[in-house]
Amino acid sequence: MVLIFERSGSFKINTIPMFIIIILLVSCASQVVSSRSTHEQSVVEMHEKWMAQHGRSYKDELEKEMRFKIFKENLEYIEKANKEGNRTYKLGTNRFSDLTNDEFRALYTGYKMPSPSHRSTTSSTFKYQNLSMTDVPTSLDWRDKKAVTPIKDQQECGCCWAFSAVAAVEGITKISGANLIQLSEQQLVDCSTNGNNGCGGGTMEKAFEYIIQNQGIATEDEYPYQAVQGTCSAAQKAAAAKISNYEEVPSGDEQALLKAVSMQPVSIGIAAYTTEFKSYKEGIFNGVCGTQLDHAVTIVGFGTTEDGANYWLIKNSWGDTWGDAGYMKILRDEGLCGIGTQSSYPLA
Ligand SMILES: *[C@@H]1O[C@H](CO)[C@@H](O)[C@H](O)[C@H]1NC(C)=O
Ligand SMILES: *[C@@H]1O[C@H](CO)[C@@H](O)[C@H](O)[C@H]1NC(C)=O
Repeated sequence: MVLIFERSGSFKINTIPMFIIIILLVSCASQVVSSRSTHEQSVVEMHEKWMAQHGRSYKDELEKEMRFKIFKENLEYIEKANKEGNRTYKLGTNRFSDLTNDEFRALYTGYKMPSPSHRSTTSSTFKYQNLSMTDVPTSLDWRDKKAVTPIKDQQECGCCWAFSAVAAVEGITKISGANLIQLSEQQLVDCSTNGNNGCGGGTMEKAFEYIIQNQGIATEDEYPYQAVQGTCSAAQKAAAAKISNYEEVPSGDEQALLKAVSMQPVSIGIAAYTTEFKSYKEGIFNGVCGTQLDHAVTIVGFGTTEDGANYWLIKNSWGDTWGDAGYMKILRDEGLCGIGTQSSYPLA
């Protein structure tokens, strides 16, 4: 452009390219504006579609506008991450996609790291300590052994701890020879109050202690889930499964955890407080985790991919539309998301 200006002796000749340049600039700018609004428009449409899909409605336009902004942020994060193409997992929208991470954590997690003074003294041994690693298979999926019940949904109640504990008890009950039966999270929410706090959070260890003291836990059918804490009515229900004790896996030792999971599903604390975890869709998660254990899940298997990545198979309690039909594969042996920090399992 500078060259043209220096060479041209006549103002008239020069005005022609100037016009062209101006026209080009204007049309270029208008394209940017229109492509931006097309993007905005398509996000509006995606939000509407998403609202219909998840049965979401808002009380007024103000709330809708606010939720739209959050949805857009989540969506842009998801699309950017998937486009980068360097991850071993995919993200996707789900029913949490119009929530901020703070709201998400408050509503759907609910794990309280046990304080040392609350730690049980009954669980000082680790019974799988001397299990030889040669006895541990290279992959295992407790679902194949029919020791895992269908994915459940804690809904808007911070009692992940109850779901994690129940999944581990359902597992050991089946593995020790009984039928696979769905057991009651609601009983734990209502009755396991000595150290646990219903939808306000708790630990699996306290839940196991309650089941031991109560001499059992009722079935899901008999004591169904309500997603809100109610009055304990365990005395009116038959105990369908019992445990004798529970143990903790040595902290920070994923090989010890592997030994334990090779024998039964194990309850773990996990740091799940991020957009990535919230939006996990499929593949082996090795993304951004939270900084403290705030959620509880159950490890129900493990394996290694064709290209050599070791993973855990996790059963979550966010319904079967979250993640990979309710499950997550997550990188093993890297202490990812605090896995291995706080893990425990019930004994039949
Ligand atoms: C993927 O690539 C982006 C952009 O280059 C980078 O910021 C990010 O850390 C990478 N993520 C992984 C999981 O490698
Ligand atoms: C493991 O083996 C050691 C050495 O024989 C023994 O002292 C320990 O009690 C065993 N642990 C368990 C849990 O069996």
